[in-house]
Amino acid sequence: MACIQVIGGAPLKGEVWISGAKNAVLPIMVASLLGDGPSVISNVPHLQDVTTTMELLGRMGATLAVDDHLRIEIDPRGMQQFEAPYELVKTMRASILVLGPLVARFGHAVVSLPGGCAIGSRPVDLHLRALQQLGAEVTVVNGNIEARAETLKAANIIFDTVTVTGTENIMMAATLAEGTSVIENAAQEPEVADLANFLIKMGAKISGVGTNTLIIEGVKKLRGAEYSVLPDRIETGTFLVAAAITRGHVHVTRTQPRHLDSVIEKLRETGADIEIGDDWIDLDMHGRRPKAVNITTAPYPGFATDMQAQFTALNTITEGTAIITETIFENRFMHVQELLRLGADITVKGNSAIIRGRSGLTGAPIMATDLRASAGLVLAGLVANGTTLVDDVHHIDRGYENIEEKLGQLGAKIKRTASAGVVSRD
Ligand code: EPZ
Repeated sequence: MACIQVIGGAPLKGEVWISGAKNAVLPIMVASLLGDGPSVISNVPHLQDVTTTMELLGRMGATLAVDDHLRIEIDPRGMQQFEAPYELVKTMRASILVLGPLVARFGHAVVSLPGGCAIGSRPVDLHLRALQQLGAEVTVVNGNIEARAETLKAANIIFDTVTVTGTENIMMAATLAEGTSVIENAAQEPEVADLANFLIKMGAKISGVGTNTLIIEGVKKLRGAEYSVLPDRIETGTFLVAAAITRGHVHVTRTQPRHLDSVIEKLRETGADIEIGDDWIDLDMHGRRPKAVNITTAPYPGFATDMQAQFTALNTITEGTAIITETIFENRFMHVQELLRLGADITVKGNSAIIRGRSGLTGAPIMATDLRASAGLVLAGLVANGTTLVDDVHHIDRGYENIEEKLGQLGAKIKRTASAGVVSRD
């Protein structure tokens, strides 16, 4: 496994550009299966999950072509099998997103039931129940979800819990259902809206985009379309926190500031001086130590759970004490034990972490457990005195494009090395 070595202490300074959003490009790549011709998707980030999704679509018979301008052409006309096998689903839970499109377009899908992951049990019961409401026959046998439907029929879906991929799965399925479907308590994340906008370019009839009520009027067929993926708000937030934690001054470009209102508000609370343009955000700490800031995660437009680990890391060195409450996932404080190894003062009680800011951290070997936790650990390494070795960083490669190059350009002393050796923690 690869490691990232960070030598802490340098305030980050300079400009960094943002890649396309992982959580938008994955559903958009899968939605291309709904078309009766090829789609071209641009501003595609170079991520492990994108590679995995390409492999998944290729295995089903789609033809894919990639050029070096971060563009992918996906032609679903050769599709001849409709299965997402376990060996791919276990590496990327987002594979569940093929379920709705496959049933809607081909009437049949077999998708391995995603297991849990480090941050929680991650059930997909809401996806399956909503698909049944659209008229699909859904069974789970031997760890596989099998869904069949001659033709899907429109339905009124009300999600008990806001679910991002659940909303995306059902929205995609409903585009080819007979009649008009309504999804209430729909996820409002910008990535859901980006998917809806791509589907509309394919000929889908969707209204309420960006709200918690989506109305989808089914059509007979969809065509291929060209689309550029929106910038990654979580990557953006991660670099803004990198600037804050190191008391630096960073200019983030090729992003969409309006998708980060809650993150920007919280960073201003730490004392950051933030200016905003059409597609850029400038954060300057003026060398000041950040102040502690309380966080409670919530569905969009609330504070993103995918930014929680980064703010937990930030609060380890702030002036004051912060409380961070995680309301979305039941086990998303795996990074705390690793931060304690760096000298942080954190107590976890239930779904809250109480963090008493320290004047500094001390580098040590630590272990990444999941995608956003590993980002938080790298941020802590940027400010810890001495050397921090973050092991198992394959997690980070799933969601961040060339993170060490981008941080290195901002003055971080960071490099990728071979693993520090097998560490068993059980
Ligand atoms: C998406 O995951 C994102 N992944 C996650 O990002 C993100 O953390 C999450 O939304 C929340 O914003 C992608 O978009 C590919 P949910 P998803 O369904 O859709 C419960 C990252 O780091 N639930 O919105 O799987 C669930 O257990 C990843 O980029 C059910 O109970 O999350 C959770 O408590 C991590 N039954 C809550 O809903 C269901 O059928 C929200 O989960 C579905 C979800």
